[in-house]
Amino acid sequence: MSTAPSAGPHPVRLTERINRIEPSATMAVVVEADKLRQQGIDVVDFGGGDPHFFTPQHVKDAAIAAIQTNFSKYTAVGGTTELKDAIVHRHAVDFDSDYRREQVCASVGGKHALFNVISVLVDHGDEVILPVPYWVSFKDMVRYAGGTCVLLQTDESQDFRVTAEMVARLITPKTKLIILNSPSNPSGAVMSPADITEVVRLAHQRGIWVISDECYVYLDYTGQHFSAGTLREYRDRFLVIGSLSKTYAMTGWRLGFTLGPAAVMTAVQKLQSQSTSNPTSIVQKAAVAALRGPQQCVEGMRLGYMKLRDHVVGGLRSIPGVKCTMPEGAFYVYPNVSSFFGRSGINSASDLAGKLLREFHVATVPGEGFGTREHIRISYATPMAELDRGLERMRKFFAAL
Ligand SMILES: Cc1ncc(COP(=O)(O)O)c(C=O)c1O
Repeated sequence: MSTAPSAGPHPVRLTERINRIEPSATMAVVVEADKLRQQGIDVVDFGGGDPHFFTPQHVKDAAIAAIQTNFSKYTAVGGTTELKDAIVHRHAVDFDSDYRREQVCASVGGKHALFNVISVLVDHGDEVILPVPYWVSFKDMVRYAGGTCVLLQTDESQDFRVTAEMVARLITPKTKLIILNSPSNPSGAVMSPADITEVVRLAHQRGIWVISDECYVYLDYTGQHFSAGTLREYRDRFLVIGSLSKTYAMTGWRLGFTLGPAAVMTAVQKLQSQSTSNPTSIVQKAAVAALRGPQQCVEGMRLGYMKLRDHVVGGLRSIPGVKCTMPEGAFYVYPNVSSFFGRSGINSASDLAGKLLREFHVATVPGEGFGTREHIRISYATPMAELDRGLERMRKFFAAL
């Protein structure tokens, strides 16, 4: 137990567990940008991970119909049979997998799915291999479960790519889990199908779990279309995490899922039965419409993001001193801004992002939250005109340093 300051006579005693983790760095930027907005300041927001597209109309209609027909009761904890079948169907059509209903669990977003899976697999003293830069929540979820992250350093000159060989080097007798996230948030790096297959094979051979976070699998610009879920022969050792958030522009609806061995799904549903219970009933109906309905919207958004990616990378590379890899997926760029350290009181990515937000009103997320010190993350899920406004401000900001 540890003690936090309190205004009252009794100190607030929080658990050691909660003191092991930090608030999400991306959420912190959202709060900071909101504060400035409330003061009437026009902020260009490259901070959050929210698509600028709207949820497709047929998905919204399904939710409205669910309300009108009183689909408003509790459902099975891991989602309705209709939803589980829709998830399995979509994955089978898109990735040639053959999961069964008992191998899927729907949760309140991909983040919730990850939290559940990490909670049921990672114990005190377990090591978890995590590539850097990592999505902010992986590290804290592992710590909350009592595990230790073993960080896999990637090479910026190789576009932050993760290979099976790099993973293999970090395996010890204590390794319990390997977390893969391709396409990656924040770097946009995409692993080759051969490397994902090799990691899964190696892990299977050693009795290690793999989580393949595929929340951005539909936002891959390499032309490959691959999910670890196709690797049937190794399936008793890995889990695929999916989400409707980015795929269908449904971040606020909160619907994600896990595909994996039935025994793990039972444990995940046990945990979920003691916390959130089912994902919102109405959202489940909307999710079925998204998964079973027309899929052109998904490809339309992918092409839209690709144009934005090319534009923002071109813009950033034209700023003297900014180095920028070409992301192959997701909707983030992760430029290196370390050449500005030592100027105008800036000594870290946090200093730089803070100054950029306070003085030029552009919100970005400093790299420290993703495990690197020299980068900032820019989300380009924003209209082209907004991207240009932000780039213009950044150009002036960097020129003034
Ligand atoms: C890598 C990664 N995984 C999982 C998630 C979770 O998304 P959601 O909880 O909205 O499904 C996110 C969201 O930004 C993400 O970037």
